Amino acid sequence: MKATAIAPSNIAFIKYWGKKDEKLRLPANTSISMNLSNLQTTTTVEFSKDLENDCVEIDKSGSDAPRVIDFIDMIRRRAKVSDKVKVISKNNFPTAGGLASSASGFAALTLAATAAVGLRLSEKELSMLARMGSGSACRSIPNGFVEWETSYAVSLYPPEYWDIIDVVAVVDEGKKDVSTTAGHRSAQSSLFFSPRMAHINDKINQLKKAMRDKNFNQFGEIVEAEALEMHAVMLTSVPPLIYWRPTTIRLMREVINWRREGLPVYFTIDAGPHLHLICQKKDESSIVKRLKAIKEIKKIIVNFPSAGARITALSGF
Ligand code: DP6
Repeated sequence: MKATAIAPSNIAFIKYWGKKDEKLRLPANTSISMNLSNLQTTTTVEFSKDLENDCVEIDKSGSDAPRVIDFIDMIRRRAKVSDKVKVISKNNFPTAGGLASSASGFAALTLAATAAVGLRLSEKELSMLARMGSGSACRSIPNGFVEWETSYAVSLYPPEYWDIIDVVAVVDEGKKDVSTTAGHRSAQSSLFFSPRMAHINDKINQLKKAMRDKNFNQFGEIVEAEALEMHAVMLTSVPPLIYWRPTTIRLMREVINWRREGLPVYFTIDAGPHLHLICQKKDESSIVKRLKAIKEIKKIIVNFPSAGARITALSGF
């Protein structure tokens, strides 16, 4: 039995940084995100009695295989099967460089593996399962704009609700030195973690209001301040986590200057050096043009709000 699924990555407007329960990947706080149309993982999973060993291929390499096999074991236990598995996964973007490949990766794996093993799960169950692979993956299951409060994520709005885009400026294609899973563990060691927790619910309510009103400037102000706040926690953790590169800082300053010139654009940054420029669709070409003039940028990826994970092929049933 074989299934293929495609899943988007997502960008968090309110970040998941720090866990309440490490093993269950339960977050310290609610996060809010948007699925990204052009950062995707396609995964094919096949269970078969004819396979002698488990085999995992991610972008033609075997990296991350133990984490994938642990996840597959959980699904085998749930479905009560013992067949060996073949997993082939392809990202259309650089892996593990801070472009949230674990989100799209585990969301696609969840859909493909559960379908291939014959489990029929609800969106809620799929989101819960994806979370066990990588927390942010639970947000790549539902459509469009998504909220993750407890153990699973739900859609707040469909992709077509709001014409905003995420223009990713890829700064450095190298692998990051500290994984997000390791990074989460150090969040509580920052002096800024408790003040962050004390006001995060107010911030979430303000962001949700700005989304409800489609007030782009209010929305962007919150998104940018939130990214800087998460990085303030990272920078002040013990040991400190510094994901930025010189070009990251240069770009942050450019975005602020462009805004002063009247262009409504805001940035957010995950656990990596890349900038996500959040803007309205109408400003896409002027932002892309400005980014193209900066030679340190390796790649520009324009993303629209996207549907969540979906099955694209099934066979052998
Ligand atoms: C900075 O979901 O990668 O991108 O649950 O340990 O796999 P694990 O962590 P992960 O963390 C993502 C952190 C972030 C912020 C976010 O996407 O909310």
